[in-house]
Formats: sequence, structure tokens, C-alpha cells
Amino acid sequence: MRIGILTSGGDCPGINATIRGVCKSAINHYGMEVIGILGGFQGLLEIETVQLTEKSMSGLLNSGGTILGTSRVKPFKKKSSLEEQEERNRTILNNINEMQLDAVVCIGGNGTQKSAAKLAEIGINVVSVPKTIDNDVWGTDQTFGFDTAVSIATEAIDRLHSTASSHKRVMVIEVMGHKAGWIALHSGMAGGGDIVLLPEMNFDIKEIGDIIIDRVKKGKTHTIVVVAEGIQHESTKRAGEYIAQQIEYETGIETRETVLGYVQRGGSPTPYDRILATRMGAHAAELIANKDFGKMVCLRGNDITSIPLDEVAGKLKLVTEDNDLIIQGRKMGVYFGK
Ligand code: F6P
Repeated sequence: MRIGILTSGGDCPGINATIRGVCKSAINHYGMEVIGILGGFQGLLEIETVQLTEKSMSGLLNSGGTILGTSRVKPFKKKSSLEEQEERNRTILNNINEMQLDAVVCIGGNGTQKSAAKLAEIGINVVSVPKTIDNDVWGTDQTFGFDTAVSIATEAIDRLHSTASSHKRVMVIEVMGHKAGWIALHSGMAGGGDIVLLPEMNFDIKEIGDIIIDRVKKGKTHTIVVVAEGIQHESTKRAGEYIAQQIEYETGIETRETVLGYVQRGGSPTPYDRILATRMGAHAAELIANKDFGKMVCLRGNDITSIPLDEVAGKLKLVTEDNDLIIQGRKMGVYFGK
């Protein structure tokens, strides 16, 4: 069999490890030929490929980013007319035939899962692997990239404690996560955040001010506030900047913000993410060998299995009130809002 791989959406540590898992398994065990499709779905619309061999896998396991490049190009656009979409579908099908591909592995987040489901609908043999630091892909317990982003954010929060205590300041750190609060929740609890604000939970800025003042009265002279970039607020400012300004206004205490940004997406994956990415990549090759198409590889407990793409597409996995970290964190005095 001859299979194609593409990586789409935001990059993250672990993508290259996934590519390596697919390729080493497909080439060594199943005798497949593997073609890298460059630039996400753009490489399907305008053929741009590279042959992937055992040799091209060296150094991938611990490297960040994606050797295939990525984009946010969507092959199926809501706004397209029926004719435009049918034309694009024909282009994709013709290109798949021209590349002589028997199947395509799509590695990506929510948008990619939606596109992969539509590729399956037009008759392409597709297997997808969930990828994102946001950990918001429905149907899998965790995505690779998440553990690395949480490690990076936690290390940053650890560092903010020393400067906060030295200056008796409130330090606000804004972390990524798009519409989900998973990175903020996990790094907030791992980094000893006192206040953790998530897009999924409402918060009251005056209540936050009272909590901080109360902490000072009890001799806790600094406070760490972890803010997910996607929290709901009426300002046009970035979430971290808005929260920091509101806190300083409410409490009169010096408050500074840090927007962690793209460092959460860069560099070498953690060992956990390397293992998860490797397992998922190898299972993607297994699904193809078994001609078990139209599926997304997923983690359930400690098992790697798969789920039909049409059950995943378009769904977000968000933090809920009954999350154990929320329940136990509240008991420990962490403020998550209401
Ligand atoms: O989906 C990963 C992510 O890093 C989000 O956490 C963030 O909101 C978004 O990508 C940023 O998108 P871009 O890379 O296009 O700026």
C-alpha cells in the first residue's frame, strides 16, 4: 500500500514523533510506501509531496514542529457554493489518484477532524490522529502536545512565584487553550495557582479582589493568577492584561501580567507526549493495514483505540464542573469562579 500523511492546524510538540510512529510501523512492519503531503490540506489541493523513508525518520522523536509543515487551509469551506465545493472535491480525488495513494493519515485538531470526516464522506480512505496542545478534541482522553504545553506553563508559573513573593505582587499568567481551559486548569494546579480562570466557568472580578485582599490579611503577600486566553470578558484587551488591570484597580496591589504565548507550542515533546504520539502513529498504520478507515485514533484510559470520525467531527471537549481537579482544588481553596 502507498499512504500519504499530512499535518494541519497549529503545530505542537509530538507531531514529528507521530509521523515517525506511522512511518516506521508502516514501512518496517507492513511494507507500505509513505508519502509526506506538505503544508496541511493545501498539499492535497495543490500537490506538494516528499517521499518519507526510514532515513527521514532520524531525529524526529524529540523534535518540535512538523517536518511536513502545516497550514490552516480548509478543503471544505462552509461559504463555498455547491459547485465550488464539488469542483474542489474533484480536485482532491484526482490528486489522490495522481499521487496513487491508497489511504491518507490526517494529523490535527478539531478543524482537521472535521475535514478528515468530509474526506471520508467523498470516498477517501482516511485515518486521523488527534493533535493539539489545547486537549479539546472530543473522543480522546488526551492529545499529544498537551503534556508538553502544561510542563512549559508550569515551569513558567514556578518562576513567577519567586518574583511575586519578592515584590509582594499579584502575578497574572495567560496561557493558551483556545476555547478550552485544560492548560490553565492543569498548569494552574501543578504550579500552585491561587486563582485559575477558565472559559468554561464564570468569575466575579470583585470576588477575586476580595480573595486577594483576604490573602494579604492572612499574611499571604503574593497571589498567582492563571488565566486561560479564552475566558469570557467584555474588553478588547488580551485576557491576561484585562484581568491584571482589573485586579490592580480592585485591590490597589501592584499586579503584572505575562502572556506565555507560543513557547507553549515549541520545542521538544515531553517523554509522555513522545510515547503517546508514537503509540497513536503506530495505531494509525495498523488501522490502515486492517482497512479500518473513517476512524480517529484515540486514548481511552491507558489503551489506544479508535472512534468513528463522524462521532468526533465538530465536537469540543471542555472542562466540566465535575472534573476532579476542580472539585479537589475548590476544597483546597483555589478559586475557579462559579
Ligand atoms: O490550537 C492551538 C493554539 O495554540 C491555541 O491554543 C491558540 O489559541 C491558537 O492555536 C493560536 O492560533 P495561531 O497559531 O493560528 O496563531
